[in-house]
Amino acid sequence: MQQKILGNTGITVSTLGLGTVKFGRNQGVKYPQAFEIPDDQHLMQLLHTARDLGINLIDTAPAYGNSETRLGTLLSGDRKNWVIVSKVGEEFVNGDSLYDFTPEHAEKSIKRSLKRLNTDYIDIVLVHSDGNDVYNIQNFGILDFLSELKKQGLIRAFGMSTKTVEGGILAIQQSDVVMVTYNPIETAEQPVIAKAFELNKGVLIKKALASGHIQKIPGSDPVKTSLTFILQEPGVSSIILGTLDPTHLAHNVACVTG
Ligand SMILES: NC(=O)c1ccc[n+]([C@@H]2O[C@H](COP(=O)([O-])OP(=O)(O)OC[C@H]3O[C@@H](n4cnc5c(N)ncnc54)[C@H](OP(=O)(O)O)[C@@H]3O)[C@@H](O)[C@H]2O)c1
Repeated sequence: MQQKILGNTGITVSTLGLGTVKFGRNQGVKYPQAFEIPDDQHLMQLLHTARDLGINLIDTAPAYGNSETRLGTLLSGDRKNWVIVSKVGEEFVNGDSLYDFTPEHAEKSIKRSLKRLNTDYIDIVLVHSDGNDVYNIQNFGILDFLSELKKQGLIRAFGMSTKTVEGGILAIQQSDVVMVTYNPIETAEQPVIAKAFELNKGVLIKKALASGHIQKIPGSDPVKTSLTFILQEPGVSSIILGTLDPTHLAHNVACVTG
C-alpha cells in the first residue's frame, strides 16, 4: 500500500488506517447494526492482517471504551511498527460523552493514555471535538498546550478532529493534523482539506463509509466509490476506516491498491 508523509510532520502513514471504536465500545454509536465487542484473539488476528496488508496507522481514543487498553496489550512488542493516534477532550462514562478541553484535563488524559497504550510516546494526539470547534480552540489554550507536549517529546504531532469548516481551518492553521468527515455524500468539510493541502498539513479522514451506512453511497461497490472519491483530494493523507471484519478489511485495501 502507498504511504505518504503526514503534512510536514515527517511521520509516514499508509493510505488506509484502522479505526478502533468497535474494539472497545458498542454503546452510543451510530453503526447500522448492533455488534459484540470481539475477543483478543480476533483482534490480534485483525491487527496482523492489517499489518500484512500494509497498514501502519491506528486510531483510538479514551472515549472508545477500553480500546486504548486493549491496544496496549495487543501491540506490545510491535509498538514501533505502528503510528498511533489518540485523543483528548472526550470521555465516555456510563453511556454518556463528557467533554473537557482544559490543558489540565489533557495532561491527565495523555498520561493515562500512555499507561493504557503501554508506551512512552504517542505519535499523534487530536482534540476530540464536541462540535464547538472554534470556541474550544479560542477559549482553552488546548492547541498551545499540545504544542508544548510536542516540544517535550511526549507526542510527535498534534491537531484536532473537527466537525465544522471554520473550526477545521482554524485548527489546521495552529497545528499539524486535522481529522475530518469526508465521503461522496458528506462533502461539506472539503474546504478544510483544501486549506490543509495549501499549508502542507496532514489530513485524516473519518467516516469514509458513512459509519457503515454504505447503502447511502452510490455505485455497485460503494466502498470502491467512496475510497476512490476521497483519494481524488490531493490533501488527504490517510483514510481511517473502522472494521472488525477481516474480509471487509481485505476488500477495503484492495479498493485502494487495485
Ligand atoms: N474523531 C472523531 O470524532 C471520530 C468520529 C468517528 C470516527 N472516528 C474514527 O474514524 C474511524 C472510522 O469511523 P467510523 O467507524 O465511524 O466509520 P466508517 O469507517 O465510515 O465505517 C465503519 C463501519 O463500516 C463497516 N465497514 C467497514 N468496511 C466495510 C466494507 N468493506 N463493507 C461493508 N461495511 C464495511 C464497519 O463494519 P464491519 O465491522 O462489519 O466491517 C463499520 O460498522 C473510527 O473507528 C474512529 O477511529 C473518529
